[in-house]
Amino acid sequence: MRKIVVINQKGGTGKTTTSATIASGLRRHNKKVLLIDMDPQGGLGIWYNLRFSHNLFHLLVENIDLDRCLYPIDDNLWLIPSNKTLAQAEIFMATRNDREKILIRAMKNLDGMDYVILDCAPSLNLLNLNAMLYADEAFVPVAMDYFSLIGAREVIDNLEWIQSRMGHKLKIGMIIPTFYDKRDRKSQEVLESLNSRFGQNVSNPVRKNVKLSEAVGAHQDIFTYAPKSYGAEDYDKIVRKVLNGE
Ligand SMILES: Nc1ncnc2c1ncn2[C@@H]1O[C@H](COP(=O)(O)OP(=O)(O)OP(=O)(O)O)[C@@H](O)[C@H]1O
Ligand SMILES: [Mg+2]
Repeated sequence: MRKIVVINQKGGTGKTTTSATIASGLRRHNKKVLLIDMDPQGGLGIWYNLRFSHNLFHLLVENIDLDRCLYPIDDNLWLIPSNKTLAQAEIFMATRNDREKILIRAMKNLDGMDYVILDCAPSLNLLNLNAMLYADEAFVPVAMDYFSLIGAREVIDNLEWIQSRMGHKLKIGMIIPTFYDKRDRKSQEVLESLNSRFGQNVSNPVRKNVKLSEAVGAHQDIFTYAPKSYGAEDYDKIVRKVLNGE
């Protein structure tokens, strides 16, 4: 089972889109995938139009069984959803001795999945630390602007900090350039910088494509909503890289 955390403390870089779209792509290749929404904004539950009574808060704070917090979404796809109650989880978690490892404990009985994908909120909080310690690889979506480039360096520094200080092997998997527009010089420059700093780890860019945001409103993945779109094409390449273990 591969456990992938999708993280960047900067907001709006395409984390939720990347998490959900990679998950959908993998399930289409008959892989069993669990998505975990680590963000109290609850974007994934909204995307899938899911009604739920239990969420990640109940799993982490109230010790409700994993089975009751895990909802089937589609063939081979499950979701542990979140909503604004998750924002309070930190307060309860912070008082516990094992506060960084609450998610690891809560997930210990999970089996039968090929992939777990964790969609993080844009912050450096205890929930995200739990996600990073649970995961064994990190994907970092980076939007094509200069601030994102600085943000990307910070994320990598944090991942390295987790590795050295917490003794946890968290592989830096893919750096995913998002909102790419080849007509825009800034996009070109930021992509070149990413390539020169992070080399092999940089995936093909995901082009700016309005179909990706429309798919959310239609409660569909991009491969169903607009299979011929740039969004579907670019994420399909990324899914294939994930399957190849790149
Ligand atoms: N390649 C793209 N082209 C156009 N729109 C996109 C693209 N990727 C994502 N979007 C849209 O941009 C918005 C932000 O994307 P998303 O929610 O995935 O970012 P995020 O990093 O999860 O944000 P947050 O930090 O708030 O969690 C959404 O409306 C999404 O549909
Ligand atoms: Mg998000």
